[in-house]
Amino acid sequence: MFKSLILIILFFKFCTSLDTLTTNQSIKDGQSLISKHNYFALGFFSPGNSSYKYLGIWYVKMTPQTVVWVANRNHPIIDSSGVLSINQYGDLVLHDSNNRLLWSTNVSVQDQVTTSSVAQLLDSGNLVLVQDNNENVWQSFDYPTDTQLPNMKLGLNLKTGIHMFLTSWKSKDDPGTGNYSYKINRNGSPQVFLYNGSTPYWRYTFSPGNNVFTVTSLPGRKVFFAYNQDEISTYYSDDDPSIMTRVVLDNSGLLQNLMWNDGVHQWKELWPKPGNQCDKYRRCGSYGKCKPDNECMCLPGYEPKSPRDWYLRDGSKGCVRKNSGLSMCKNGEGFVKLERLKLPDASIDAALIGTIMSSSECEQACLTNCSCTAFTSMNIYGMGTNCFAWYGELMDIVEYADEGGSDLNVRVDAIELAKYIRKSKGSLSKQRKLAIALVSIVVPMFLVSLLAYIWLAKKKKTKVKRKVHNQSLNFASTKVSFKGHELEDSSTHPDLPIFDLSCIVAATENFSPTNKLGQGGFGSVFKGQLSNGQHIAVKRLSKSSRQGTGEFKNEVMLIAKLQHKNLVKLLGCCIQEDETMLIYEYMPNKSLDSIIFDHTRASFLNWKKRFEIILGIARGILYLHQDSRLKIIHRDLKASNVLLDAKMNPKISDFGLARIFKEDQTQDKTTRVVGTYGYMSPEYVVYGQFSTKSDVFSFGVILLEIVSGKKNCDSYQEHPSQNLIGHVWELWREDRALDIVDSSIKESYVSDEVLRCIQVGLLCVQEEVVDRPTMFAVNLMLSSETTLPSPKNPAFIFKRPSKKLDLVTGGASCSINEVTITKFEAR
Ligand SMILES: *[C@@H]1O[C@H](CO)[C@@H](O)[C@H](O)[C@H]1NC(C)=O
Ligand SMILES: *[C@@H]1O[C@H](CO)[C@@H](O)[C@H](O)[C@H]1NC(C)=O
Ligand SMILES: *[C@@H]1O[C@H](CO)[C@@H](O)[C@H](O)[C@H]1NC(C)=O
Ligand SMILES: *[C@@H]1O[C@H](CO)[C@@H](O)[C@H](O)[C@H]1NC(C)=O
Ligand SMILES: *[C@@H]1O[C@H](CO)[C@@H](O)[C@H](O)[C@H]1NC(C)=O
Ligand SMILES: *[C@@H]1O[C@H](CO)[C@@H](O)[C@H](O)[C@H]1NC(C)=O
Repeated sequence: MFKSLILIILFFKFCTSLDTLTTNQSIKDGQSLISKHNYFALGFFSPGNSSYKYLGIWYVKMTPQTVVWVANRNHPIIDSSGVLSINQYGDLVLHDSNNRLLWSTNVSVQDQVTTSSVAQLLDSGNLVLVQDNNENVWQSFDYPTDTQLPNMKLGLNLKTGIHMFLTSWKSKDDPGTGNYSYKINRNGSPQVFLYNGSTPYWRYTFSPGNNVFTVTSLPGRKVFFAYNQDEISTYYSDDDPSIMTRVVLDNSGLLQNLMWNDGVHQWKELWPKPGNQCDKYRRCGSYGKCKPDNECMCLPGYEPKSPRDWYLRDGSKGCVRKNSGLSMCKNGEGFVKLERLKLPDASIDAALIGTIMSSSECEQACLTNCSCTAFTSMNIYGMGTNCFAWYGELMDIVEYADEGGSDLNVRVDAIELAKYIRKSKGSLSKQRKLAIALVSIVVPMFLVSLLAYIWLAKKKKTKVKRKVHNQSLNFASTKVSFKGHELEDSSTHPDLPIFDLSCIVAATENFSPTNKLGQGGFGSVFKGQLSNGQHIAVKRLSKSSRQGTGEFKNEVMLIAKLQHKNLVKLLGCCIQEDETMLIYEYMPNKSLDSIIFDHTRASFLNWKKRFEIILGIARGILYLHQDSRLKIIHRDLKASNVLLDAKMNPKISDFGLARIFKEDQTQDKTTRVVGTYGYMSPEYVVYGQFSTKSDVFSFGVILLEIVSGKKNCDSYQEHPSQNLIGHVWELWREDRALDIVDSSIKESYVSDEVLRCIQVGLLCVQEEVVDRPTMFAVNLMLSSETTLPSPKNPAFIFKRPSKKLDLVTGGASCSINEVTITKFEAR
């Protein structure tokens, strides 16, 4: 009686899990094949909410079930159950209960009966099929799905022709072949790419010629790379085999490196790829590099192809050579060395020149071939030096922040070479001084800022959410109330309200002159009222921009997404019959200049209100510079571009126009429109260079104007010390700064606050770009009690900007993140 019970239990156990599967055995639903030490199981499962069944491999000990391989990913078992067996030819075959063949290893010669064939699941997660001669005839590692396990190769087996690569699942419920793949590209020097369909979007590069890499961020992890007649492949392994790790390409296209944390029973994500902006393939185009702060910068000797997009933080068009007239062939050119880089894409026009070459031989080899654009020379431990060269465009270069990466020597012409030699000689001691000064100031400040920033960011997040919600509500209500003037159906841009021309004509009484609010360089502004009673301001753009309609809509949509309480809200646009118009919320109190410079109205704004306005403008600019989705440099900040709502809250306007207009258009008008004398920083006036620091300069001027009620008139060009900045600076140095305060706020002001504001204002208008604080620092200085640095010379004081353009700094060097520092010489 007992014996038979034990037998039944043994039989049951035998039935549910097998160690090996041999001819005449099978695995059905509920049964599984288990690896020796109980790491992995092979059996039937249903992913997510799916009711379909699949044959797969998963970790035995982990819940929820983590599947690492699927056999019949595109042929699920529907409304039936599955049977896995070995057929008479020795192949693993999967049938459903209606005896339909769903999957097969399909390796055997069909008319040759195999006497013994054994399938076994190894502790590595590899399912292997062994036939008579004791050879692996088939293994699941050769047919990966979305997961790479330790010691599992991805790449090309040149002997069998098998290409092993990862492809994502369609969704969490469907392991079918999805659109993302991670595979080796063997062109040039082999690299691994993440593809979306057939479009690459991330590149993993090996140092050419090297074949073992350690991963600094994960001790014990090694990545191996093989490139020989038999294979081009890569795999990874971990020193500690008891740690469970896997690499999975998930159904959203993210390549995840995961490690099992036994303590919390969860997969821990080590580093997802693509992980940051710089990871995006070709983000900075040709000859551009992506820096640790995610900004693009041109390689030495190159300049942005489209400076405008570049300023607006879109580097994808890349860079072109600076002195393109100059021959780059045996004309005195040389190399500039860049460090810590992800090397350029080596899949086109790149090649290993040779090994065991010295670095100077490598340089010579590149120099003598006129199409060679860059080279790298790597010392491989114990194997001499590899010399690798690129012959075409240099693409997808990333600079790493601290460690890792390789050196790249970029070919530059003689002029550029001279400049770099000069730079590396001259700037050392200066740099060190600056570094020391920065560390002593920045570190304590950084800690404070970080805390403040985290707090602000949290606060902002909830705010933005609420705003977006409001916006969609507004839009909904607008749509309902238009009735006769229906909004155009904008199915392609669901967020962008597009107004009908007839609706705008009615709202502005056919652009009646009595409704005209003002005239700017970009066109005229009219007041209007929609049929639902809402007041609007309509900016009628003077000539239809040369952009296509679709492009214009896209731009407007981006700007419409900029939501901040200190920015004027864009309600929508209208593009019809040659007319291009932007519709904004209406600001009843007009612009700041119409109040502070007007003796009768100046008293509307007491000190408290003015201080709030200063803070509001600062927050608005900060949002444009760093917090919004686009990074925008306003370039025309001035009192008349700060509008006041019914409660006298400041709102910056015109912040997106620079983006909407094409480069050539704005360049025509640079002096007249985009910049306004009195608000423009010296480097912008003289060299046309602008950066966030030129906005900081303009903000400083506005701040001093708000405190003093006086215009920083443009007469300073003739009388440098008579402008507002010069006047404030003189009073500041004589300790009489409060003398500048507007007489209409004499009763209401708080002297500490006013002095702090004046000091911040003077810091913002300092002559040297590096001395000016960022908007982030400005916000911090205005809203806290931190000790402020002493301002240095403001711009345009006692010195005149030299109009002579220095060839080296040249007007064209306009990278946004590396503002060229120009010293103005007294004439
Ligand atoms: C499998 O079954 C067939 C017939 O049922 C038998 O002839 C053969 O010997 C079996 N093979 C093994 C390995 O048990
Ligand atoms: C399964 O369905 C439930 C409810 O329908 C849903 O909440 C859940 O997200 C689904 N899970 C997956 C993996 O799709
Ligand atoms: C098995 O492979 C042969 C050729 O190698 C192919 O013609 C056949 O369609 C395959 N069968 C299955 C079920 O995949
Ligand atoms: C894959 O791409 C095609 C075409 O781009 C698309 O129709 C399909 O929905 C995509 N599939 C998934 C799972 O995203
Ligand atoms: C893949 O391409 C599709 C369009 O083809 C796009 O919608 C999707 O966001 C892309 N996915 C990634 C991860 O870039
Ligand atoms: C320069 O190198 C490229 C790529 O290896 C080669 O095709 C070309 O012939 C070389 N040119 C000269 C002048 O050696």
